[in-house]
Amino acid sequence: TQKIIIDTDPGQDDAVAILLAFASPELKVLGLTAVAGNVPLELTARNARIVCELAGRTDIPVYAGCDRPIARDLVTAEHVHGKTGLDGPQMDDPAMPLAEGHAVDFIIDTLRAQDPGTVVLCPLGPLTNIATAFRRAPDIVERVQRIVLMGGAYFEVGNITPAAEFNIYVDPEAARDVFAAGVPLTVLPLDVTHKALTNAARVQAFRDMGTRVGTMVAAWTDFFERYDKEKYGSAGAPLHDPCVIAWLLKPELFSGREVNVEIEVDSPLTRGMTVADWWGVTDRAPNALFIGDVDADGFFALLTERLARLHD
Ligand code: BDR
Ligand code: CA
Repeated sequence: TQKIIIDTDPGQDDAVAILLAFASPELKVLGLTAVAGNVPLELTARNARIVCELAGRTDIPVYAGCDRPIARDLVTAEHVHGKTGLDGPQMDDPAMPLAEGHAVDFIIDTLRAQDPGTVVLCPLGPLTNIATAFRRAPDIVERVQRIVLMGGAYFEVGNITPAAEFNIYVDPEAARDVFAAGVPLTVLPLDVTHKALTNAARVQAFRDMGTRVGTMVAAWTDFFERYDKEKYGSAGAPLHDPCVIAWLLKPELFSGREVNVEIEVDSPLTRGMTVADWWGVTDRAPNALFIGDVDADGFFALLTERLARLHD
């Protein structure tokens, strides 16, 4: 089994990604680390525990991490995810406590304790926790097997500004560090996640599971859809973050290129832009597998088949 740490700012799509990981025997989730992003840290740390309880996985430690980006004020996305970050179905506060300690320390300690090259980091939000861990403990960088993250955009440009995708925009300094760290990197940008769109039949498939997980996922995606329908006129909602977990499970559903990606940190106009050398017009060395396409039917088939395994 592949050991992973999910670094997350739930977020309805983060929630679905976490459930997909829990439902997949190929993956062993060592812990969830919450970061400020879609909503403030207190809520993302709460929401991560709600997801664990929903899946009956209160054995998974949930750590709270950084409550603001490295060098900026926090920007949140309640306009997409609602005031709690998990708006949609009515959810009670979790009974499960947070794990003791800081998420950054958990990341550092875990990478030092596990055999080198055996842990994959899966960031689904701003990269603050990961970059902070790398800054504080540079020895862990080479122990990371791979980072598979949702963030950035190239042909699809931005969703929070015309130039930038939300996760990278919120903490561009953290993203710059992570992209420059020399760790094998897989990037699932908007170019691919905007192809992983829900539609009526796909949401109905969640509902038809007849389980609590299926009902919740349907309600979350129903809520999440609102924003994209109004904003982009798209048929459904992009399930951004589940693409990270799906890539780990079935990389053959995706295609992309090894390219150089640099992060804009200086320009106010293009802050957080992922400048991907898709056409190889520079001699900068590739630092990321930048995914551009997904078999959306295959992705939803995988997601549905797996989520159905999470019985009450
Ligand atoms: C990303 O930003 C968040 O709103 C989503 O959870 C996803 O991680 C998409 O830009
Ligand atoms: Ca997210």
